[in-house]
Order: sequence, then C-alpha cells, then structure tokens
Amino acid sequence: MTERVVLAYSGGLDTSVAIGWIADQTGAEVIAVAVDVGQGGEDLDTIRARALACGAVEAEVADARTEFAEGYCRPALAANALYMDRYPLVSALSRPVIVEHMVAAARRHGAGILAHGCTGKGNDQVRFEVGIGALAPDVRVIAPVRDSGMTRDKAIAFAEERGLPIDVSRRSPYSIDQNLWGRAVETGFLEDIWNAPTEDVYAYTADPSVPRPADEVVVGFEAGVPVSLDGVRLPFLDVVTQMNRRAGAQGVGRLDMVEDRLVGIKSREVYEAPGAIALITAHQELENVTVERDLARFKRTASQRWAELVYDGLWFSPLKRALDAFVEQANQAVNGEVRLVLHAGRAVVTGRRSEDSLYDYDLATYDTGDQFDQSLAKGFVELWGLPSRIAARRDQRRGTNA
Ligand code: ARG
Repeated sequence: MTERVVLAYSGGLDTSVAIGWIADQTGAEVIAVAVDVGQGGEDLDTIRARALACGAVEAEVADARTEFAEGYCRPALAANALYMDRYPLVSALSRPVIVEHMVAAARRHGAGILAHGCTGKGNDQVRFEVGIGALAPDVRVIAPVRDSGMTRDKAIAFAEERGLPIDVSRRSPYSIDQNLWGRAVETGFLEDIWNAPTEDVYAYTADPSVPRPADEVVVGFEAGVPVSLDGVRLPFLDVVTQMNRRAGAQGVGRLDMVEDRLVGIKSREVYEAPGAIALITAHQELENVTVERDLARFKRTASQRWAELVYDGLWFSPLKRALDAFVEQANQAVNGEVRLVLHAGRAVVTGRRSEDSLYDYDLATYDTGDQFDQSLAKGFVELWGLPSRIAARRDQRRGTNA
C-alpha cells in the first residue's frame, strides 16, 4: 500500500506547495487537514478545493472553533496565561488542537507520517512535533520547509511551474497567524525593532488614538469561566467573539514585544488580542475579590509556569496537566460580575460584585461600623517583625550586615 502523509494545511503558499513537494520527495499520498480555530479569512470549502487542486488525495476541514474555545482558550483564561507577562499565547494554544486533528486524521486514513510547514527557527515546529510525540509516538514527522530545502523562492517557482492555484502576488509582507484568541504579526519592516508598527499591521483592533465614545460591559463569571455579557448568557465561544469585536473597536489588546523563543533567539512580534486581554483583565480582578490570599499568590507563580510550558510546546505534558487541575480548583469560587470600561486601547475595571466575595465591607471600612479590631494589630506586628528584629540586633552587635 502506498504510504500516506497527513499534512497540516493552511491554504497558504507554503503548505499548498508542500503537498506536491512531499509527494515528489516521498512517493506518498498526501492528505491535507485544515483546522478552523476561528482564523476567519477564506471559507473552508475554498481551502479544501485548493488542497485538492494542489494534488492532495483527500482534503479535510474541521470546524474546531468550539473545541478550541472550550478546551484551549478557556483554560488559558482560567490561568490568566501571559507569556513574559504579556503575550496571551495565541499561536501556542492553537498548535495542540491542530495536532489532535492531524493525529485523528492519520488514524482514520492509516497514515504513518505527519507533516507541517514550519521553519526551523520558530516555536511552532516544537509545538507540532512534541505534541505529536505525546499523542502518537509511533508516527514519523516530516517538515519540508525546514528539512528538505523548500525555501520561499523555490516554493514560488514550484507553484508557477505546476500552475498551482495560488495568487503569489496577493501575499502579505508579514507572516501572520491568527485565531479566536488573537493575532500575531511578524517579519518585514518589523524586524527592525526600532520601527514602530504602522496601522496596516492591525486587523483585529481599531486605532486606539482615534477619539470615540467608551464602551462599558459587564462580564459574568461562573467558576472562573465567563458565561455572560451584560447579563445575556452566552457560550464561551460567543463571549470571546463578542469581546473581540467590542474591545477591538476600542483598540484594546495591542502588544508590541520582543520575546524569547524556545530555540534561543529573541524575536519581535506584534500582537492584538482584544477579547483575550479584556477577559483576562476582568478574570484577574474577580480573582482578587474571591480567591484567598495565599492561593492567589501561589496561583500567580503556577500561572506563569503554565504559560511557559504551553509556549514551550508542552501542552500535553504531565506538569501542564497537573497544573490544569490546580488552576481549575483555584477557580471554584471565582463567581460574580466585573464591569469593564473599554476605551482608548485599555480595558479598565470599574466595578466588581460577587456572592462569594472575600471583600468584607465591615472589615475594610474606615467609616463607622468598622468591625476590625485594631488592638489585635499591635501584637501581630510585634511578632511578625520578631525574626528580623532579632537578626538586626545580632548584626548590630557584630557590626556587620549579614
Ligand atoms: N511568536 C508567537 C509564538 O511563538 C507567534 C508565532 C507565529 N507568528 C507569526 N506571525 N506567524 O507563539
């Protein structure tokens, strides 16, 4: 039987050329798998038809929007996952769901090889291959762009020679990856890290410097999951979609950063993640109100680790799975509502309320009705500072600062 290869297909130049390229190099039949993670753009039937026109023996398109939202973006929000304190892991979250679909297709079609179109310089090759290794350690992976000399120029020449239905002239000067959780843009003039991004870089967000009236939104949460906007109950996918639109219209969620890639290089990426940033802002604040102090402190550390694991391609790793359980447990009391004002590129919390609030007005107030017994504070402070006072006395005696 002819060997079969399942290729992660985007519909773009590289993966379109990869179909014929892989067939030539390996003699295998190529099955293209495209996964809809909310990237918008071309419809999936067009993409499917292109894969077949480029020589795929089969082309499958999967609508994974709900699966991506529920299974990937939702845990990221629960963790407030921000790599290097800023990047909400847009691309890093989508790779494991694509891997799931590739592996399932490989099983269905009896394919022993999986293929991706990543270069050898990025994080995504790691995410694909480590993910595949975790789900299907028996299959082999090939990467034509990285391993068999499929450069940009060769890809264009190949497409022209074979008359592949790809409009090379319409190609953007940028490398773009986008999905429900946000959008990442790199290359071109952005590689000079002193160059400011121009407006044409952005597609999910309007220019935040344009004057416009503010938008106010109330986000309702149950166990850390946003379940309503302005009191209207919505599936999580719709919450994110609507927040992308509303926060995006106010220019919320633009990021311009130099980041540490797993392969060791620093790279400049411009992101826009209006829904993700607005929702994380609201979620963090509701945690401030409902999560006990020590749990909250530890969760911040755990969340940072979670984000690094996911960024580093370890979605399917044991530590990530164990941290998921912790994050879910830590979200049990994160119920209530947060009011956000979306304006001029910022999502600002202006109110919070919760049946499970740990904020106690009677303890916090400086007005009459104060229930906090200040006489207890004197002894508490005395004992809290005792270790450092003892050490300071010792150091004074020795005339040193140990
Ligand atoms: N640097 C981001 C990450 O590693 C995005 C990668 C894809 N970016 C792109 N513009 N194609 O998660």
